[in-house]
Amino acid sequence: MSTTVRAAAKINLHLGVGAPREDGFHPLDTVYQAISLYDDVTVSDAGEDTIAVSGTPHIDVSGVPTDATNIAVRALAEAPCGGPHHVQITKQIPVAGGMAGGSADGAAALLAHDRLHDLGQPDDVLLAQAARLGSDVPFSLVGGTARGRGRGEVVEPIVDHGTWWWVVVPAAVGLSTPEVYRHFDRLHPDAPAQPAEPTELLAALASGEPVRLARALHNDLQEPAIDLRPELGDLIALGEAEGALRGMVSGSGPTCVFLCDSQVGSMEVVTALSASYDVVLSAIGPVAGAHVVSTREAE
Ligand code: C5P
Repeated sequence: MSTTVRAAAKINLHLGVGAPREDGFHPLDTVYQAISLYDDVTVSDAGEDTIAVSGTPHIDVSGVPTDATNIAVRALAEAPCGGPHHVQITKQIPVAGGMAGGSADGAAALLAHDRLHDLGQPDDVLLAQAARLGSDVPFSLVGGTARGRGRGEVVEPIVDHGTWWWVVVPAAVGLSTPEVYRHFDRLHPDAPAQPAEPTELLAALASGEPVRLARALHNDLQEPAIDLRPELGDLIALGEAEGALRGMVSGSGPTCVFLCDSQVGSMEVVTALSASYDVVLSAIGPVAGAHVVSTREAE
């Protein structure tokens, strides 16, 4: 038997970061949105534990571990029973791009394992397993548009009346999330303990108005990411000059995302940016969290 689960990339519409806690993690007040770039994870019964990783042509999977440190394999170790398994990951989400690609794989593996073995674990049990794997993994299960607090793992769906068109520009070389947080600490040694709240952003999402949402987008990790990669500032300026309502770094970067006013508007920005950047994608949000796309009997 095998089960395939699809999980989406995330962007942060608001990412408020506070001073580091005693455990080293930063308190967050964030608004996640799942957008239509997906990784597929297939978990199969097998004679021994194995893993294979492949990617759509624009994705360089060479940095993805193919051993027990891969988050999908760690997810299976969290799970209560079963094995050995073969895990096949097919990636469309940029690697080390600030779009929670690893978290999507972890969430997908947790759900695939649960469904493969007909465990039917309650949502709170899967969410607790997800939180142990990483701060963004619970959101990858939930999807849609949601507020994240704690270190990002305490997730609550929020009202979103929009259909939002995004242009996504991944970078050839990823950025390390811990490095970007460390740089935030260097730039903001006096950061307040409480992260900034997304009050206006929540109102903008409920209004469904792109111009209002564009004004309310906020990412405290954008400044350290651009300080580490100044070319990201040039990319954001170019996208905005070419008609995007607003450009921003996605999470800890280096992927940049551009909010557009419509599907037609997003196609125009894709065309304009494609003259200077190799990989320019379009995506829509919000989309669903991790979900089963197929279940197959053994051949
Ligand atoms: O939770 P996750 O494994 O995704 O986090 C990766 C790294 O990002 C952590 O080890 C930490 O350095 C940083 N991080 C943080 N504060 C958060 C989330 C992540 O400092 N709220």
